[in-house]
Amino acid sequence: RDPAFPAQAFPPPPVSARPVDRDAWIAAFRFVRAETERRAAPLSPEDQQVQSMADASPTKWHRAHTTWFFEQFLLREHLPGYQIHDERLHYLFNSYYVAAGPRQPRIMRGLITRPTTEEIAAYRAHIDRAVETLLAQAAPGALEKVLPILEIGLFHEQQHQELLITDILHAFAQNPLHPVYDPAWRFPQATSSPGAIELAHGIHQVGHAGDGFSFDNEHPRHDTLILPTSIDRGLVTNAEWLRFMADGSYTRSELWLSDGWLAAQAEGWEAPGYWQPGEQGWTCMTLAGRRPIDPAQPVTHVSYYEADAYARWAGRDLPTEFEWEVAAAEGGLDDAFGLVWQWTRSAYTAYPGYRPLPGALGEYNGKFMLNQIVLRGSSVATPEGHARRPYRNFFYPHQRWQFTGLRLAQSRA
Ligand code: AVJ
Ligand code: FE
Repeated sequence: RDPAFPAQAFPPPPVSARPVDRDAWIAAFRFVRAETERRAAPLSPEDQQVQSMADASPTKWHRAHTTWFFEQFLLREHLPGYQIHDERLHYLFNSYYVAAGPRQPRIMRGLITRPTTEEIAAYRAHIDRAVETLLAQAAPGALEKVLPILEIGLFHEQQHQELLITDILHAFAQNPLHPVYDPAWRFPQATSSPGAIELAHGIHQVGHAGDGFSFDNEHPRHDTLILPTSIDRGLVTNAEWLRFMADGSYTRSELWLSDGWLAAQAEGWEAPGYWQPGEQGWTCMTLAGRRPIDPAQPVTHVSYYEADAYARWAGRDLPTEFEWEVAAAEGGLDDAFGLVWQWTRSAYTAYPGYRPLPGALGEYNGKFMLNQIVLRGSSVATPEGHARRPYRNFFYPHQRWQFTGLRLAQSRA
């Protein structure tokens, strides 16, 4: 960590805290903006240009889009006299906000060679100055409106910090030279103890509580019925996945959902993402280049389809998102955060009474509540201070370029 940014810079104080600590918010803003640049720093302009698939975006696009987000939702409305850096960038760096106007098609983000990486750095600097001016000068009444948008902008940029890493890993994995992002990168050691936590049959509260940041999709907090379930303390490891593979896994249709079987066939899946057979066994593309598989590490880069097939093979279940949340609240999960996102068996849908934010920001989470699966926890690529127990990540069931793994459960209802 850069000593110029104290650990307490993030997360910022609750938006409702009075008096408003402007310096704390400026520190949080600088902390997050600097972390994006730190993650981009090892990458050349050529690295930052590439889009290796439709789901992934160029590094320079992430750097620009997170900047556009502050310009669009914060500065345009709340900084009197603010001059847009360059109106033409709006089309390029609007991601998916239909209410904010037309945009560059997602699959064509890699074609945007201009503005250059250097010009995007200038765009970032322009917005940094304007946001800091706003934070220093806004009247107290205006700050009340500014802080919630600033806050979502910070957590938004952190989501893109994770995507920046997973997207460049995907790009580097396509390169036969196996480029190294960070030679010192190591997967953190799993603590994963054996055994399981037993969840008692009963009604539990789930969803966000308290005055720290939350996304709208964590609301409303509500009651949910938990049936008798045990959840493993540990994550599924590479050693366990190798046993699954040795037992036929990817060739046994009876273990797979139909959509999963079709995806595995169409994509030729024989192992988790980025795995390749080497002279001494399987290897995996990592941020430190191609490395031998470590049996003790949690398995990662598996899709929901694979996680589901594994659970069926093991005669077990994936936990629901609420079983995960309650088990985590009871302190029962090892490695809940910081290694791999954990697939649950819960569809990503609205909580009872959920309403999206008003305006274009209402498109942030709510409109994706169909055909995706909830993941809980966080990964090695998630920035510190970002994820929390009620946090709901979500991806499509075939996607596996994120750091996605699993833990098993057993329902006994
Ligand atoms: C929650 C990770 C699925 O990748 O689109 C970024 C995060 N939302 N910008 C995504 C997000 C808006 C989101 N995921
Ligand atoms: Fe975004």
